Amino acid sequence: MCGIVGFTSIQKQAAPILLDGLSKLEYRGYDSAGIAVRDGEKETEIVKAKGKLSELSQKTDEGRAVRGTCGIGHTRWATHGEPSETNAHPHSSDDGEVVGVHNGIIENYKEITERLIRHGYSFKTQTDTEVAIKLVDYYLKKYGSPAEAITRAMLRIRGSYALALMFKSCPGEIWAARKDSPLIIGVSGQDSFIASDVPAILKYTRTVYYIDNLEFAKLTPGNVTFYNIEGEEIEKESVTIEWDTEAAEKGGFEHFMLKEIHEQPTAVRDTLNSVIKDNRIDLSAAGIDDELLKEISRISIVACGSAWHVGVAAQYVIEDLARVPVRVELASEFRYRDPILEEKELVIIISQSGETADSLAALREAKGRGIRTLGIVNVVGSSIAREADNVLYTLAGPEIAVATTKAYSAQLAASYALAVALGRARGLIDDEKYAALIQDMLSIPEKIEKILSDKERIQWFASKFAGARDVFFIGRGIDYAICLEGSLKMKEISYIHSEAYAAGELKHGTISLIEDGILVIGVLTQQGLYEKTVSNLVEVKSRGAYLMGLTTYGHYAIEDTVDFNIYVPKIDEHFAASLAVVPLQLMGYYISIARGLDVDKPRNLAKSVTVE
Ligand code: G6P
Repeated sequence: MCGIVGFTSIQKQAAPILLDGLSKLEYRGYDSAGIAVRDGEKETEIVKAKGKLSELSQKTDEGRAVRGTCGIGHTRWATHGEPSETNAHPHSSDDGEVVGVHNGIIENYKEITERLIRHGYSFKTQTDTEVAIKLVDYYLKKYGSPAEAITRAMLRIRGSYALALMFKSCPGEIWAARKDSPLIIGVSGQDSFIASDVPAILKYTRTVYYIDNLEFAKLTPGNVTFYNIEGEEIEKESVTIEWDTEAAEKGGFEHFMLKEIHEQPTAVRDTLNSVIKDNRIDLSAAGIDDELLKEISRISIVACGSAWHVGVAAQYVIEDLARVPVRVELASEFRYRDPILEEKELVIIISQSGETADSLAALREAKGRGIRTLGIVNVVGSSIAREADNVLYTLAGPEIAVATTKAYSAQLAASYALAVALGRARGLIDDEKYAALIQDMLSIPEKIEKILSDKERIQWFASKFAGARDVFFIGRGIDYAICLEGSLKMKEISYIHSEAYAAGELKHGTISLIEDGILVIGVLTQQGLYEKTVSNLVEVKSRGAYLMGLTTYGHYAIEDTVDFNIYVPKIDEHFAASLAVVPLQLMGYYISIARGLDVDKPRNLAKSVTVE
C-alpha cells in the first residue's frame, strides 16, 4: 500500500533523503511515485513519475536537481483512479496553498467532492487524495490556521488516512494527521522525519514517535509538536528502535525473499525464546496467565492471507492439544457477518504488519462487543498491537518481501506456544508430554536449517516446472493448512494458477481438472492420515498427474507412488507446518526466478493492505 516519507531540516537537501526513504518502502507495493519539495519561501516543486521509483530518481538526478530542505514523498498503490502520473501524489490545491500526500481510503470522498464543487473547486484527478487536500484548503481559507483546517478536515472525513501536508504560509513545516493508516515520526538533531514505516528513516534516526488515531503533528527542523483532534497540544514518549538498518537490507542475498527464508530459524528461535523460559512457557509478557487460559470457552482466530493460513494450522493444534473449540475466519468476512461470540471467547488476530485494514476492523468488532482480543503481531507499536487487549509479539524483525515467509513461521511458533500453554493450563498435558512438546518446538530452528542446506534439489525441480500452467496441492489436517500456504506462495510470486485442496475433497469436482502432466503436490506429514493421502495421490496419478510428495524422513515407500519426493526432518506432528512449508516457499521462489519475475515485489500485491 502507499508509502509516505517527509523530511524537514535546516540545511540538508530533502529530495535525495525522500527518494532514499521511499526506496525502503518499495516493499509495500506501488505503481507510481512523487515528491514535493520547497526551497525556503519559494514555490513548491512537484515531480512525479509512473512506474518504478527509478523513473523518479532519473527524472530528478537522484533528487539532486530538486532544491530545498523541506519536502514530502509518496509511492502510490492505486485505489481511486488508474495508475498514472496525474493521479500520482503529491496533489495540491489550485493556488498551491496546500500540497499533500495520503495513504488510505476516504469513504465519503464523493459527498465531499460535490460540496467542494458547490464552493467553486474543480478536480484534475480521480483520486480521493485530491479531495482531501482541497478540503483542507477550503477550511484553511475559512478558518485561517493549518491546525484548525486539519482538525475540521479530520472531523469531516470518513475512512482511513495518513496525511502529510505542506502549507505555503508555513515554510519549513510539515503537518501530519492519521486515522487507521500507519504513520511514524522521527527526530534527529535538526532533522525531522515522517514515514509510513520505520525502515524509511532508520538510517537517520532510531528515535521514533507513534502518532495515534485522530491525532496530528507539526514538524519543524528538529522538533515535533503533537495535537489531539481538539487542537490541544499533547505530550508523547519516544520509542527507541532496537533493530538496525542491516536487518532491512539484503545482506548478500539476491532477493529479500531468499534472505527472509533463511532468517526463519532466527525468527522462530527468537519468538520461542521470548515465551519459553527454563523449559516452561511463560506468556506473562503478553499479559496471559493460567487463570485466563482456563477461563476461555472458545477461540476465534481472525486474519488475512498467510496469517489466516497460520490460523488454519493453529486450529488443528489448539483443538488437539487443548480441546478448546476454534473457529478460523477471514477478517474481511468476520467484520461484516455479525459474528456470534461468547462472553468467555478469545478472539485472536494474527497480523505481521498489525495494520491490515480488515484485521484491524475485526479486532474492533470483537472489542466493541466486550470480547477479549489477543493480537499476534510482528510490528511493535502497530495499530493492532496497540488496540488489542493482549499482544503476543512475533520476533521476525522487519519483513520486506511482499510474500511473507519468516513472519508466517514466527506466527506459527507463537501459536504453538499458546496451544501448549492452553493445554497445560487446562490439565490436558502432563509433565512428560509438556517437556517433549517444548523440546520439539525448540528443535524447529535447527530442522529448518537442515532443510535450507538442501535447497539445490528444490531449485532443480522448480526449474523443471517453471512453465507449469496449473499446480494442485493436496493434504489432510495440518497438511491441508500447509497446502494453503504453499499454493498461495506459488500464485503470489510465480503467477502460476494453483489450488490447495483437502485431499479427500478433490474428487468432488476439482479432479476433473487433472490432465496429463499436471503437477500435484501431496503433503504427508501426519501419520494417521498418510495412507489416506497416498490413496488420493494414486487417484490423480491414474489420471495423468505428475506427482511430487512432501513427507518426513523414513517414509521412503512414498517413492513407489510419486515421481519426485522431498523429505523433511521428523518432529512432533503438531509442528510439522513449520518444516514442510519451507520447501514450498523455496519452490515458489525458484519458479518465480526461473520465470524472470520480480519476486520481492510481485504485480498487483501489497505488503501491508491498509484498505478494505
Ligand atoms: C498481504 C500480504 C500477505 C499477508 C496479508 C496479511 O496480502 O501480501 O503476505 O499475509 O497481507 O497481512 P498481515 O500484515 O495482516 O499479516
